Amino acid sequence: MAEDKDKPVDPHIDPANPDNRVSLERHAADSEHAAKIAGEIPERPRPDQPVAPKMRKPARRGRLVKEVGSTGHQWDGITEYDNPMPRWWLWTFYATIIWAVGYVVAYPAIPLVNRATQGLLGTDYRQEVAAEIDRFDQANAAIQTRLAEVELAAIPADPELLSYATNAGGAVFRTWCAQCHGSGAGGARGYPNLLDNDWLWGGTLEDIHLTVQHGIRDPQDGDTRYSEMPHFGSDGILDRTQIDQVVNHVLSLSDLPHDPAKAAEGAQVYADNCSACHMEDGTGDRSQGAPNLADAVWLYGNDHATLTRIVSEGPYGVMPSWSARLSEAEIRAVATYVHGLGGGE
Ligand code: HEC
Ligand code: HEC
Repeated sequence: MAEDKDKPVDPHIDPANPDNRVSLERHAADSEHAAKIAGEIPERPRPDQPVAPKMRKPARRGRLVKEVGSTGHQWDGITEYDNPMPRWWLWTFYATIIWAVGYVVAYPAIPLVNRATQGLLGTDYRQEVAAEIDRFDQANAAIQTRLAEVELAAIPADPELLSYATNAGGAVFRTWCAQCHGSGAGGARGYPNLLDNDWLWGGTLEDIHLTVQHGIRDPQDGDTRYSEMPHFGSDGILDRTQIDQVVNHVLSLSDLPHDPAKAAEGAQVYADNCSACHMEDGTGDRSQGAPNLADAVWLYGNDHATLTRIVSEGPYGVMPSWSARLSEAEIRAVATYVHGLGGGE
């Protein structure tokens, strides 16, 4: 007990604390009011037992109706009556059960390991889909054969072929090419934009067809488009000063910020080492996939650091060959689609 007395009083409820006066007074008034109104409210009946239904006679109809009993549940003064489900609802419910049994017997319903039970009607959705695909392929077989066999140059001139190839090619593109070239074919760093007029390997239908068919630097395809820029830095062909000079020269070709003194020195380095592929004036060479260095379009970037890395280590962009994965008609379709995107020649 002695310990109790010694216990410090909570300062928030200590009546001796003058700060608590207002809240203590308010609390006392609240308790008084609560006690007063508690005496005025009559006790509500709270049926704990279900109330037995009574029979009563309704005003109009002569039939006796049963007065609905309560379930004995009451919340907040609201009594829950023990009404039965409406008849129409119950019958609909039973009908759905009967329907479900009939459905399970008649149609595929129970999944097994490889397929579902077939049902008495012998329905097989897999077969239906396969048949549908077959029908579609057959309907397109004629035009696909034609697309695969005509002269490439004849495709754009034939409105029916052109429209079929463009649509089918769009679907091929979204499935197989968009991961690298972007769904809108806008490209990304290292993956060329296919919408513009700037082509590494050429933008005619024949060029694009060959690129898609055999890929670029794809080791799996013996006919792939191939070229390789030397690794000027890592193979010790040029030293760091020369690389810095030639990079400044490349920047000067398209009027990007550069050091004119270094660029002037770089012109000679360029003529000796780069012009065989990128041409004297930097306009590039499509037969080797060597990009134009004098325009505003860059595959890898146009800042000093990126150019230094490219010249030192050499770029090596790889585009897969599609001849083993797509049919000739699909390759022609996607080539036509890409050709029609805006930059085709
Ligand atoms: C794995 C990534 C990848 C996929 C998938 C891919 N490409 Fe490419 N594609 C490239 C790269 C990288 C290059 C540039 C290669 C280079 O640096 O020369 C390229 C280049 C091209 C070019 C040459 C562009 C030019 O300027 O000459 C065409 C055309 C092309 N792709 C079309 C397609 C089509 C059509 C598909 C789909 C069937 C496709 N690509 C799928 C990576 C890809
Ligand atoms: C044997 C031919 C060849 C020689 C020589 C060559 N290049 Fe290249 N260069 C290429 C090819 C091919 C590419 C594109 C490679 C790719 O797409 O992966 C390229 C790409 C580039 C790029 C990237 C362009 C862009 O759009 O991002 C730069 C920059 C470049 N070369 C600069 C040089 C410089 C500077 C030299 C001389 C020091 C040089 N190249 C010598 C073939 C060559």
